[in-house]
Amino acid sequence: MPYIIDGKAISAQIKEELKTEVTAMKERGIVPCLAVIQVGNDPASSVYVNNKKKACAYIGIESLAYELDECTTQQELVSLIEELNQNEKVNGILVQLPLPKHIDEDTIIQTISPKKDVDGFHPMSVGNMCIGSKGFLSCTPAGIIQLLKRSGVVIEGKECVIVGRSNIVGKPMALLLLRENGTVTVAHSRTKDLKEITNRADILIVAIGKPKFITADYIKEGAVVIDVGIHRNAENKLCGDVDFEDVKEKVSAITPVPGGVGPMTIAMLMENCVEAVR
Ligand code: GUN
Repeated sequence: MPYIIDGKAISAQIKEELKTEVTAMKERGIVPCLAVIQVGNDPASSVYVNNKKKACAYIGIESLAYELDECTTQQELVSLIEELNQNEKVNGILVQLPLPKHIDEDTIIQTISPKKDVDGFHPMSVGNMCIGSKGFLSCTPAGIIQLLKRSGVVIEGKECVIVGRSNIVGKPMALLLLRENGTVTVAHSRTKDLKEITNRADILIVAIGKPKFITADYIKEGAVVIDVGIHRNAENKLCGDVDFEDVKEKVSAITPVPGGVGPMTIAMLMENCVEAVR
């Protein structure tokens, strides 16, 4: 069996570290505060938002919940964000995505002050990440870097292949691996001979959104595999973009689904909230 990279344990460790730091902040009279905005009541979004609020409560971060009606106008949402940008008590602002179709996500993301952009989605945050300046990092890719580092995986000099080029995972992941001195290739749906490319990877990061797409023939013997996908099958069981059973004898280390990347996204969101106060 490969080494299982335990995202649940690593995220718990990060949350403990943050809890200690927040306790010390509170002794100095500082209470970190995150505003969480959800528009409409998409069930998956509600689960994510609740988990975020629970993590805040555990660490000692105050959370302000804004549960807005599906019919909220773009201007109403912009006005709320502008108000929260000005509110000195609020350190971080999170707008849960996706938003209803009548609201332009880019406009909303760009309304959030880069100083409070704890998701790391604002173009200013992305630009800072690109040139290696200070700024909030996208939570999922930052969580993956933590998973690798805290599992003793060396990134420097390694062939890192990312499958998927989304703004939330693939693209920022490439920037963060480059920052760690990895040699980075980004493959995607139009890539020719994907197998040939993934077979070069010492570290393979998969974020394509297709259940069990990556099988043993995509993988180099001894590779470290990070599975960002999460899907629910007909029997209500969770699985990733990687066919775990098929690849497990070939990889040296792998993240499970669930319990791999998922818990890290929230841990890194909490890290960004504390960083907003620091
Ligand atoms: N929807 C899916 N993932 C995320 C995330 O990381 N942040 C926000 N705001 N919305 C999401």
